[in-house]
Amino acid sequence: MRFVLAPSILNADMMRLGEAVRMVERGDGDWLHVDVMDGHFVPTLSMGPAVVRGLRRATRLPLDVHLMVSRPASLAPAFLDAGADRLTIHAEARGNLPKLLRMIRRAGRRTGVALKPGTPPSAVRRLLPLADLVLAMTVEPGYGGQPFRRDMLPKLRALRAAAPRMDLQVDGGLTRETLGAAVSAGANVIVAGWAIFGDPRPGAAMRRLRRIGEAAFALNGGST
Ligand code: DX5
Ligand code: ZN
Repeated sequence: MRFVLAPSILNADMMRLGEAVRMVERGDGDWLHVDVMDGHFVPTLSMGPAVVRGLRRATRLPLDVHLMVSRPASLAPAFLDAGADRLTIHAEARGNLPKLLRMIRRAGRRTGVALKPGTPPSAVRRLLPLADLVLAMTVEPGYGGQPFRRDMLPKLRALRAAAPRMDLQVDGGLTRETLGAAVSAGANVIVAGWAIFGDPRPGAAMRRLRRIGEAAFALNGGST
């Protein structure tokens, strides 16, 4: 297990997405986090497979696609075809989720299972053997720039205890003030949107987040 920084492009300037990607590459981002919203699972819409296809042509960074959609099975093939490296689906979504996770793995890609703040860790138990990553949302999914929910820290600790070697991702409200607490509670994969793209100097903001996250990760026992 290692520390991973996954910048979310949800709040990047969509007319300058190429620049944002190059900035993430130069600033040592590990994965690109792509938030997909269907206007049903969450109130709003965001990016679709065409954006993932464009990103795939523009970068070799792993494309970490977070599907905030009600029926992931109907959309997953298009995102796999577009070049996503990982598809993270929500435990609250509809359909046969074990079957879908197996299909994603058969396509040679990684899987993730996400939990909304109100969903208990037990909801992921039966899916754990099919997941390469667990994503604990630390805001209600739907929008970037919301405040981090500190009441999710015990849940992070519970998930880490349940899966000591699994990649544990946190998403929502991660900033230089909140990142340390999330990592100390067991997260090793950090999504950050607004803290990077809302900053007048996104490259510097990203490097600062990495420094803080890596320091907390090392304090926590590092890669064991
Ligand atoms: C929220 C998305 C997040 C979002 C995080 O529904 O899943 O990935 O971009 O953004 P910040 O870091 O701005 O809270
Ligand atoms: Zn996300």
